[in-house]
Amino acid sequence: MKNLTLKILRSVAFAFCAVAASFHAQAAQTAAELAPTPQMGFNNWNSTHCRAEFNEAMIRGIADKFIELGLKDAGYTYVNIDDCWANWKRDANGNIQANPVRFPSGIKALADYIHSKGLKFGLYSSAGTWTCEPKEENRGFPGGLGHEKQDAATYASWGVDYLKYDNCNNENIDARIRYQAMGEALRATGKSIFYSLCEWGENKAWLWAGEPVGGNSWRTTGDIEDKYPSMLKIFKENVVLNSHAKPGRWNDPDMLEVGNGGMSDTEYRSHFSLWAIMAAPLMIGTDLRKIKPDALKILLNKEVIAVDQDTLGEQGHRIREADGVHVIVKPLKDGSHAVAVFNETDAAKDASVTAAELHLDKTKKYTVRDLWEHADAKGDGAIQVKLAPHATAMYRISAL
Ligand code: GLA
Repeated sequence: MKNLTLKILRSVAFAFCAVAASFHAQAAQTAAELAPTPQMGFNNWNSTHCRAEFNEAMIRGIADKFIELGLKDAGYTYVNIDDCWANWKRDANGNIQANPVRFPSGIKALADYIHSKGLKFGLYSSAGTWTCEPKEENRGFPGGLGHEKQDAATYASWGVDYLKYDNCNNENIDARIRYQAMGEALRATGKSIFYSLCEWGENKAWLWAGEPVGGNSWRTTGDIEDKYPSMLKIFKENVVLNSHAKPGRWNDPDMLEVGNGGMSDTEYRSHFSLWAIMAAPLMIGTDLRKIKPDALKILLNKEVIAVDQDTLGEQGHRIREADGVHVIVKPLKDGSHAVAVFNETDAAKDASVTAAELHLDKTKKYTVRDLWEHADAKGDGAIQVKLAPHATAMYRISAL
């Protein structure tokens, strides 16, 4: 009898330890485990801003589209909501709450729905007294400043997997202090919550947002607009920051505009290619319930996505910028290299990249795979291409 009791006690203790260990393993996820490659997903901001169409029916519909359109299979994981989800006021206990008109079922129910599809859910707040919208004085949605622990605990209880933390109404308090406070609060929940800083590069977050703040990505620029000059400007600001990106810690040149209608398909292909070669987050910013086939095809280009998601985790570095042509090279885990050749100008260009520029081995032969044409060429690895205005060609070069 005594033996049996001991046995039972031992197995109960063993089961408890196993559960505790698995919980601990989850809780202890390092940045590189949580974000081994740049985040992929959706955020409503670029398509809806604060308009009333941003509501729970829309976000559920987007989660459904992730499955129906093959986006989940292509690696898109996070379904995130941006500003304007919260109620105007905290409740009597100071808890942040959802806007009852937009999200009548509450945020937890939405997170549960998204999780039921095998996807992850992200939320937005600001490291300030209020968020960024609306812009009228003395009216706003509550921000997280001074409420970090309480809000992080609320988010964790709702099942939030990702927090985008903005920079509006920051009372001129040092950014490092504000972002550190939320980083600590998120860690204190014991959950692995992706931490996406959004201070627009104003305080050079790439220098401090990784350690000790614990950020997994940080915005490097102001807001993108659905216009070619905006995309171009942001690309130029972000491309020089390549040395600051690594697994768990990514430069974020803002979300994608692909599909929103303000750029041509050629320009959207450049946008997607440049973001991928820069190992940028691939956060879809268009309403997937209305997306046109050409835009969807861009977002589903698995060969370009594979460049973004390569586990070596290097952001491509620009090896040449001359005459409006940019050549960016990203070393990949299997020893091959991705190369993007981008013509920023309004004129067509004949561009070439030599094997020597790419430091290829003269004694070897290479396959040059065109990632938009999905076709191979064999040779010394050199590239020759005719580029339309604003176009990007993208390749993967591997030794035969
Ligand atoms: C800032 C951010 C945007 C968006 C809006 C919401 O401008 O940079 O990405 O989140 O706030 O108000």
